[in-house]
Amino acid sequence: MSGVPNVTLNNGVTLPAIGYGVFQTPPAETAVAVETALKSGYRHIDTAAGYQNERGVGEGLRRSGLTREEVFLETKVWVSDYGYDETLHAFEKSATKLGVSVIDMLILHQPMPQHFERTREAYRALERLLADGRVRAIGVSNFMPRHLDALMESATVVPAVNQVELHPYFTQPAVQAADASQGILTQAWSPIGGITFYPGYGEERKSVLDDSTIQAIASKLGKSVAQVMLRWHLQQGRSAIPKSTNPSRIAENFAVFDFRLTDGDLARLDSLDQGHRGGPDPDEVDPSKWGLEVPEP
Ligand code: A2P
Repeated sequence: MSGVPNVTLNNGVTLPAIGYGVFQTPPAETAVAVETALKSGYRHIDTAAGYQNERGVGEGLRRSGLTREEVFLETKVWVSDYGYDETLHAFEKSATKLGVSVIDMLILHQPMPQHFERTREAYRALERLLADGRVRAIGVSNFMPRHLDALMESATVVPAVNQVELHPYFTQPAVQAADASQGILTQAWSPIGGITFYPGYGEERKSVLDDSTIQAIASKLGKSVAQVMLRWHLQQGRSAIPKSTNPSRIAENFAVFDFRLTDGDLARLDSLDQGHRGGPDPDEVDPSKWGLEVPEP
């Protein structure tokens, strides 16, 4: 099987397009999960200060026996740490928990539209960390085009990445177009649509895993529905960070480099967009009310 393709960011740094995500992975299970993923071939891990499992990510990396340079580590600054000095300190907290001196990619977890000055100041801190070589790339998450435009009024570095909810039922064409026009890599969270079936995100949802169009493509190719979705991301130039704590599904989600979807298959996947987000609306939720504080190491 051929290996995972790399994508090149707008600053020349490369990363494996498929990463392993640990959203909602309990801290106590994270080290084993990350070690399993690394042994399955993943070389890119996506976590966040807000997930409270950065220590486990670092532990999993050390247990894997891989060198620091072999694995691309991505983490996110939580909103309670926005502000210039606060975000510089957030880097120290994350780096210490991960057990590393350099973080490959550090991104803002989401905009704070009600407190955009703090968002700008947080991003200014990321620019400082980049200039100082403490991080190799910086970016954002859950930014709509208007948030990107507002950020770019004061930013000097174009974000390398915008990590957003993106699966066949919510393809965010306007976000993808805005990212592409500025050379920003679109990275899909919930890339196989986990958000369409997680408990606690509202009833009356249809799981994208049960979609008959994707099932038909998958059975034609002898692949799983999840693999078809991951292939769709890859062939459309996105990065994707599927998550699983199940070893066979961890491996399944990485076995996506030996087949191709046709242009017709890609168009059929694109046509499934329903335009309804499963996660929080970045404009409607005031994350400062969520109350989560990121503890000191
Ligand atoms: P599990 O950890 O039991 O495998 P997403 O990354 O799109 O948010 O999806 C994550 C969800 O999808 C988790 O609930 C995960 O559960 C499940 N999942 C991960 N990989 C697969 C797969 N290959 N097939 C079916 N479900 C999967």
